[in-house]
Amino acid sequence: MMYKFGLIGYPIQHSLSPWIHRQFFERTNIEGTYDIYEIDVHAPFDEKIATFKELQLDGFNVTAPYKETIIPYLDELDEQASMIGAVNTVLNKNGKWYGFNTDGAGYVRSLLSKYPVLANEKNKAILLLGAGGACKGIYNALIKEGFTNITIANRTLEKAVSIIGQRNGKVMTIEEASQCIHTFPLVIQTTSVGMKPYTDRTILELNEVHEKAIVSDIVYQPLETAFLQRAKQLGASIHFGHTMLLYQAQYAFEIWTNTTPKMEQLDAQLEKKLEG
Ligand code: ATR
Repeated sequence: MMYKFGLIGYPIQHSLSPWIHRQFFERTNIEGTYDIYEIDVHAPFDEKIATFKELQLDGFNVTAPYKETIIPYLDELDEQASMIGAVNTVLNKNGKWYGFNTDGAGYVRSLLSKYPVLANEKNKAILLLGAGGACKGIYNALIKEGFTNITIANRTLEKAVSIIGQRNGKVMTIEEASQCIHTFPLVIQTTSVGMKPYTDRTILELNEVHEKAIVSDIVYQPLETAFLQRAKQLGASIHFGHTMLLYQAQYAFEIWTNTTPKMEQLDAQLEKKLEG
């Protein structure tokens, strides 16, 4: 069988997803294509998506700004995607569209693959910085994985409160987080602060970290953000954002093909691509 996959979003000309999925085809010996289908934000989405549906792709990814827009066009929504309110992966099964969200779970996979010991430390104090869409996905995935001690720090406190809802977790402001950041052995920066071209920005000034801290940033352009650089200087172990990209893709590929591609060396290859 020859699979046909793709990506919708805008702008996506520079997306790394086609490259990643082509690596997966090679690694699994599965035959298929992965192409980009850019939908201009000024175009009528309704018409564009109807034309796109006629192409009968076996599965596709959805990126900004359509992760929420796509939802009314789906026949079914997976529990995680529904909880997050955003979809990044769609499976076409006999003409029906099933929506998933692999971002948060992909992030957690990337983290556990680099730090497998975390799987036995589910009560570790985790600090999530930011409370946007990315945080919501990561928080939900961490809870689903069984992590029990999560704090969300955000400039706008209500957003953190609403992500936690009725579940376990604490909230604080970014200022409060700066004061007590050394108490968290795992810190995850979930906003776009520090992304190119504003590479000198950090969400907070990192003056201290826990002696065994893992500090993670979902931003991957640049590969090593100012926030990660600072964490490294302070002696923390760091976790790069581009690995989230790889593992959300792995999970999507799995949903589409029931096959899990091996990831060895892929992060190094992607690093080269991002730096080159
Ligand atoms: P996404 O869906 O891509 O995660 P988003 O929903 O716009 O993006 O969320 C952006 C997050 O980054 C929010 O938590 C936002 O804080 P507020 O909720 O207070 O707006 C945070 N953010 C963006 N710029 C920030 C900055 N300069 N300082 C602190 N937080 C910032």
